[in-house]
Amino acid sequence: MNERTLRRILSDLPLGGVRFFNQIGSTNDVALAWASEGAADLALVVADEQTAGRGRVGRSWITPAGSALACSLVLRPAVEEGESIALYSALGALAVVSALEEKYGLKPEIKWPNDVLVRGRKLCGILAETVWLGSQAESVVLGIGLNVRAEAVPAVESLDFPAISLETATGLSVKRVALLHDILTALIAWRPRLGSGEFIQAWEARLAYRGEQVQVWAEGQPIQVGQVEGLDSDGSLRMRSPQGEIFSVRFGEVHLRPVV
Ligand code: BTN
Repeated sequence: MNERTLRRILSDLPLGGVRFFNQIGSTNDVALAWASEGAADLALVVADEQTAGRGRVGRSWITPAGSALACSLVLRPAVEEGESIALYSALGALAVVSALEEKYGLKPEIKWPNDVLVRGRKLCGILAETVWLGSQAESVVLGIGLNVRAEAVPAVESLDFPAISLETATGLSVKRVALLHDILTALIAWRPRLGSGEFIQAWEARLAYRGEQVQVWAEGQPIQVGQVEGLDSDGSLRMRSPQGEIFSVRFGEVHLRPVV
């Protein structure tokens, strides 16, 4: 990835600045540090390679050089977005899905809360980290990791969920900067609708495993099994227990797996 091309291609977007690294530990860490120094809304950190990328629930995220999209966006929640902080990660997923549908003709799904799947395999993960000042969200760092080339997909034995790359899924050669531009464009377009009925419906329409049995659990908590019904208006996952009772799973450090 070339910094000059990156800056040129992204120049029509209202970003709050761009920082590019050939190699960095984690773009989320850099974005969190930048946010603490006063980074503007939509400040963007991009890396060609991450050596200490982080995933959800304490997992690591591997980004070999030249193979993936690894970026983090600093968001400064506006007052009216304050109620919807938990939905920023879904905003990231919806932006990725919109770009993939529009530009690559794929039919991606969102494994609740925010993994992007293609053909049942994980293509992209999102890590949203919020910095709180009392009860006010001062900033949210939205990290996006997307497997572009096959080399980005870790060895099967190290995966706890099957993965795929965009080039494998499409059979095309993918330009990472153009892909990033499309994702950011979609994110900027969806953001004013964060938490709206339209937003939740768009997310629900792409929800993976609808009507299927899944198991859901948080670390150290019992596993809940049920059928995926859809989303509540706040983005919680609505499920039906084997006894026919409807229950909702709230956001958090939650794992979800299909029951096979
Ligand atoms: C997950 O599925 O567990 C979330 C993975 C998020 C990875 C991205 S890569 C860019 C950004 N920087 C990080 O350290 N993590 C996120």
